[in-house]
Formats: sequence, structure tokens, C-alpha cells
Amino acid sequence: MLSFKDCQEIINKKLAEISLPEFPGNLYEPIRYVINLGGKRIRPALVLMGCNIFSESIEYAVEPALAIELLHNFTLLHDDIMDQSDLRRNKLTVHKKWNNNIAILSGDAMMIKAYEILFNSSFDILNDIIPVFNKTALEICEGQQYDMDYELKTDVSVSEYIKMIELKTAVLLAASLKIGAICGKASSGDADLLYSFGKNLGIAFQLQDDLLDVYGASELLGKQTGNDIYSNKKTFLLITALNMAHGESLRKLEFWLSNNSSDRDEKIKNVVTVFNELKIKEKTECEINKYFSLAMQSLAGVRCDKDRKLSLYQFTEELMQRKK
Ligand code: IPE
Ligand code: IPE
Ligand code: MG
Ligand code: MG
Ligand code: MG
Repeated sequence: MLSFKDCQEIINKKLAEISLPEFPGNLYEPIRYVINLGGKRIRPALVLMGCNIFSESIEYAVEPALAIELLHNFTLLHDDIMDQSDLRRNKLTVHKKWNNNIAILSGDAMMIKAYEILFNSSFDILNDIIPVFNKTALEICEGQQYDMDYELKTDVSVSEYIKMIELKTAVLLAASLKIGAICGKASSGDADLLYSFGKNLGIAFQLQDDLLDVYGASELLGKQTGNDIYSNKKTFLLITALNMAHGESLRKLEFWLSNNSSDRDEKIKNVVTVFNELKIKEKTECEINKYFSLAMQSLAGVRCDKDRKLSLYQFTEELMQRKK
């Protein structure tokens, strides 16, 4: 059985083999830069692990896995422009190192490269994986749009938030596992159970991302913390705080939400103080655990020898402790 680490190694080796033209340098250099920055490779590893549950040979899953990692990296390039983020994987983001137009266009080229690699997959699985890939790519765009719309909407509910992160983040983890299962010739019932495992895992993962944006260490994360607060992102933390706050705390939150002109650190510090008063960290951890449990339940339902799920169980446990 392949462990998560084995899968990461396979993916990193294969990503390094992707060949890109030298010119125009401003188009291809940012792609090489992003791919070589690393990243946890969670999604392609899920493709390989999803396949490996049902099949000893994972070679058919490699091309789809690479395509999914490229799709993910493309979404990050554009996400960093939209979120005005300066750091990614401990390095300057593409739009900061080059500029917005270069980040837009090299992102586009990366997406096309993702399709080129996807279409190199074995012919007999292509018909089944293309619709999953396309549906997911479009859902990510939908989620990203809600994410931006909600920056300006003041009354976002927890269920609207969960739907938004399901789209922008969770469906990609879900689709990775499902595509892996298809490559491993799983039954459609088992492929769907893995999808539902991935979706709950993905929701927990994005909740953690939101938590780490406030309470994480930026050196470990490789991203600047506090961005979500500064840009009024309707994260689980902020929505829960708005739901719970009364009197002075509510007044403070509303003041900082409507204040975009003051000092960045000042705004973040004050909002975090309200979060701390309301025990938002603990409430978010509770919500994260809820989705990890749901994920575990779906995984338990997959019909195969228990040993074959060990890598995914171990991976899930490691993910629950993540600091980056
Ligand atoms: C970042 O994803 C974007 C989110 C969906 C939160 P990762 O945390 O998996 O980023 P990398 O690929 O490891 O850098
Ligand atoms: C990212 O959400 C979702 C996608 C890239 C589709 P975030 O905007 O929270 O991700 P980070 O925190 O910048 O990695
Ligand atoms: Mg974003
Ligand atoms: Mg972002
Ligand atoms: Mg984030």
C-alpha cells in the first residue's frame, strides 16, 4: 500500500518531468516557479490513494493526478490576485513577483496544460473522468465567486458559508478521490462514498485554513496571516462571532468591518480580541471535528478489505493535526 508520503514523492517526481517551452519566459517561468515551490500535494496524492484502495497498479491514475494538481495551482494563482495575497508557499506570489497580467495569463496556460495532461490518460477511463473534472473546475469558480460576493454581504449564514467552501475547496478533494476510484475500477457506489469522504474532509480542511489564517504561524503556513480579517472574508470564525456577539463586542466587530482605511495590524488585533472573548477558536475546532467525523463515517462505508483503507485513515489523522 502506498502511504501519503509515497504518493507525494511520486507526484513531485512526475511534476518535475513536465516540460514547458522556454519562450516567452514571462508566460512559462511563473508556471515553473509555482510548480517548483512545492506545496503539500494533497489532491494528487488523494487521486493515487483513491486508486490504490481498489487496484495495485496506480499508473493510470498518475496523469489525472498531475492534471488535478495543475488545476489546483492555477486556482491559487488567480486566488492570490483576487485576495491580494503577497505570499504563497513562503515565496512571493506570482502577481507580486511579476504582475497581475502575467499571473492571469500564466494561470490560463496552466489550466490548458492541465487539460493536455488529463487527455493523456488511458482512453478507457477518459469518458468517465472528464465530466467529473469539468464539473469540479466550474464549481470551484462558483465557490470563488460566492467567496468574493460574501466579502460585501453582511448577513452570510453558516449554511451559506458551508455551501461556499464546499464549492471552492471541498469538491476538489472529493473529485480527486472519485477520479482515483474510477482509475482503480471501483464500483460507482464506492466511488461516490469516497467522494463524500473527500467532501467532508475538504470542508474540515477549509475550516482549518480559515482558523490558521487567524491563529496559525505564517512561517509554517507559507502565507501571511490575518488576510481574511483584513478583507472582511465571511469565514466561519467571523460569522460565528457576529452571531454570538452582543453589546460592546458586536459594536466593535461592526466598527472594524466597516473600517477599511485604518492600519491593517490594528484592525486584525482588535478583531482577534473579540474572537478570543467569544471563544471562537474552540467553536471552530468543534466544527472541524464534526466534519472529520463525518468524513470517517463515509470512509468506513467503502466496501473493501479494511487494510486497504489504512493509508487514508492515517492521512486523515495527520491532517487533523495540521499546522500548514
Ligand atoms: C490552499 O490549499 C488553498 C485552499 C483550498 C485552502 P493547500 O493548503 O493544499 O495549498 P498547497 O498546495 O499545499 O500549497
Ligand atoms: C482558496 O481559499 C480556495 C481556492 C484557491 C479555490 P483561500 O483564499 O482561503 O486560500 P488561501 O488561504 O489563499 O490559500
Ligand atoms: Mg480566496
Ligand atoms: Mg486566498
Ligand atoms: Mg485561506
